[in-house]
This record gives sequence, structure tokens and C-alpha cells, in this order.
Amino acid sequence: MTTTAPMRLVRERTATPLTVLMCRPTHFTVSYSINPWMEPENPTDTARALSQWSELRRVFERLGFTIEEVAPGESLPDMVFAANGGLVVDGKAYTAKFTHAERAPEAGLYADWFRAAGLEVVDAVETNEGEGDVLLIGDVLFAGTGFRTDTSSHDEMARVFGREVVSLRLIRPDFYHLDTALAVLDATPGQEHIAYLPSAFDDASRAELERRFPDAILVDEHDAKVFGLNAVSDGLHVITAARATAFQHQLREAGYEPIGVDLTELLLAGGGAKCCTLVLRDRTAESADPATASSMSTASSTPTTEENR
Ligand code: ARG
Repeated sequence: MTTTAPMRLVRERTATPLTVLMCRPTHFTVSYSINPWMEPENPTDTARALSQWSELRRVFERLGFTIEEVAPGESLPDMVFAANGGLVVDGKAYTAKFTHAERAPEAGLYADWFRAAGLEVVDAVETNEGEGDVLLIGDVLFAGTGFRTDTSSHDEMARVFGREVVSLRLIRPDFYHLDTALAVLDATPGQEHIAYLPSAFDDASRAELERRFPDAILVDEHDAKVFGLNAVSDGLHVITAARATAFQHQLREAGYEPIGVDLTELLLAGGGAKCCTLVLRDRTAESADPATASSMSTASSTPTTEENR
């Protein structure tokens, strides 16, 4: 079903509340530098990070998301960036294996949470930073490489999930994870829609994105740099950086309802809304018949909740 806007067709967007895993930034700070955003000599404000993160959580709550929390590890200041904790598709969790020693211990804490939640856990052999570098769009996994995640893990996750994996090469150090340069707006098979920053990708990857997503929203440099693309979408509401105003306009034109959040404190570590969010996809919602998948709610489906708090 479509509604007509002047000179263009806008698809009717529908919300499917997500089930997500988050990690409170109790120990957030910038004490080392593993990306160009991180400047340990500049002070950070943990209380401010906590209140900004809590606001993001409240937005998710208002949208009806099911929110799980993993306990933050002491001396792991980046653990708030839950997207890097693994990749959960079809009720199966593929663990992270971090590039940098500073974050390496996070992988085990996330894996423990997955196990306690009753997910089938597959321990990664190859280096990968979870959903920060791997996005499910339709039935296909799009996997970033260039800075963190190794292409050998792309092969590994193709085997683990039995899905097509498309490798995308990132070339700009300030957009070092795939989810900083590409936002999934609608992951529903058959109506896939994304937004991205073309200059973040090498020529071959850009050509692949153009071929697969001819109607993608191309985001400008300013909005990408305020981490507008580090966005979470339920198919209708798109939670993005408050300062990404042109992107929000583009989203409205395309039928979405953008919600701007201020996560500037977390940006001092090179993270935004999506980085704080790991989507937990259960078996039924993702591997169901595509004809019925879009109407299926994921809200009640994670086999987890209360016990493992
Ligand atoms: N400081 C963290 C790092 O460099 C930020 C991670 C951001 N996460 C993401 N999914 N993009 O690893």
C-alpha cells in the first residue's frame, strides 16, 4: 500500500518493536584510543553518558521494545557499545572476537549472557566485532571489513547462519564500523531500505550498494559525522542523532518518523544509538515465511528475560 506525496510515491511504513540487549555505561570513559574519535586527554562525564543512555533506553521503552541488559564489566569502558558484543540471528548467537586487546574481555561477558539467555552460542574463531560490523538486511548479512572485522569471519558467519554474506570494505578511519556508515531503515525481506554515506566505502562496495539498493537515502558528510547513520529503526521510527537534521528531513520524506537523541557524550568514544543496541532476533521472526514475517511481533519471543538479570 502506498500513499501519494507530491511527485513521488512514499511507502507506508510499519513498526515492529525490537528485542534488544543494552549495557549501562556505568564505567564509561575514554582511557585509550582505538578510533579517531577517542582522545583520552579530553575529559569525559560518566554521569552525562548515563543520563543520555537512559534517555535512549526510555525512547526504546516508549516504542514498545523489549529491553534486556547485560551487566557492565569493570575496567571495560566501551562495553556500553553492545552492538559489538555479538551477532544474534535465528536465535543463534555468534560471539565477538575483538581486534583490540582493550575490548577483548567483553566478548566473554556477552557470550555468558547469551548462554544464560538460552541462546545457541557459536564461539567465533575469526576476528569480528559483532553487529557493529554485520547488518541483516532482508535475508542477507552485510558485513564490514577494513578496520576491525576480518573477511575470514564473513566466511565463518556464512557457514554459521547458512546465509548469503556480502562483504563491504570501509575506507575511512572515522567510519570504522559498518554501523557508523550504513543504517538499516527497513530490514523486511522484499522491502529492504537503507541509508549510507557513499564515501565511507571503496568503489566495489559502493557499486554493490548502488546495485542492491537503488532507492537508498544518501546522507551528507555533516550528518554522518554527527553519527546520524548510527541509527536504530523499527521500520517506522528511526532513532538517530539529534544533530542529524538533514537526515531527519530525508527520513520524513521517505515516510519514517525520525526521533533525535543526544548521545554526544558517547560520541567521544566514537559511538551512537546503534552502537548501544544489539538486536536479538529469534528463530521464528527471522526464518519464517517472508510472507508472514513482517506481521510477526518479536516482542515476546526471546527465551530470556527475568531470570538472568
Ligand atoms: N570505542 C568503541 C570502539 O572503538 C566504539 C564502538 C562503537 N560501536 C559501534 N557499533 N560502532 O570499539
